Amino acid sequence: MESLSNQEKLNFLFEKIKDCNRCPLGKTRTHVVFGEANADSKVIFIGEGPGKEEDIQGIPFVGRSGQLLSQAISEVFQWTRKNYYITNIVKCRPTIDLKMIKDRAPEKNEVEACLPILTMQLEIIKPVVIIAVGSSAAKALLNINQGITSIHGKWHDYRGISLMPIFHPSYVLRNGGKVSPQYNLMKLDLEKARDFINNN
Ligand code: URA
Repeated sequence: MESLSNQEKLNFLFEKIKDCNRCPLGKTRTHVVFGEANADSKVIFIGEGPGKEEDIQGIPFVGRSGQLLSQAISEVFQWTRKNYYITNIVKCRPTIDLKMIKDRAPEKNEVEACLPILTMQLEIIKPVVIIAVGSSAAKALLNINQGITSIHGKWHDYRGISLMPIFHPSYVLRNGGKVSPQYNLMKLDLEKARDFINNN
């Protein structure tokens, strides 16, 4: 295993979990949205869970909110997808009903069932910084109950890895998107992460 590249190790892990049915989301998903792209990145972005578009394509953050996040990352880091790794707390789409119309936050049992996959991804990638995208991700990783407005932009520790919570892009979209103060705050928080990485 040690002689394998990080990407090969992730491929191996994906093969093991791609038919996962450890929680009820396994019954309604189209694809397990495992994560992509740079398995050697110092930075991993962790969101809440796949939405409709992600479920269809099997790729994280490809819908409207994902496009906004990619734009902010590109403006702050000058990065494209191939420069970083991005995934979610839960790998299957949480929906409010079997018609799969609306998204919802993952339930505690779904997070608990899925977290071991994220733990293994982190053990393989060994990032220097985790960006927790939105309050569900921050709460799941930090085991806290505070809302994102009080914790974003401040450094936290997740098992020895520096963790920066940022606003979720869907929250930014609900507040007006690129022209909103929330977009600027999201970028300011990303700048803190960028400066930290540049100095480490
Ligand atoms: N929202 C998330 O938190 N993750 C995705 O992959 C897409 C939307």
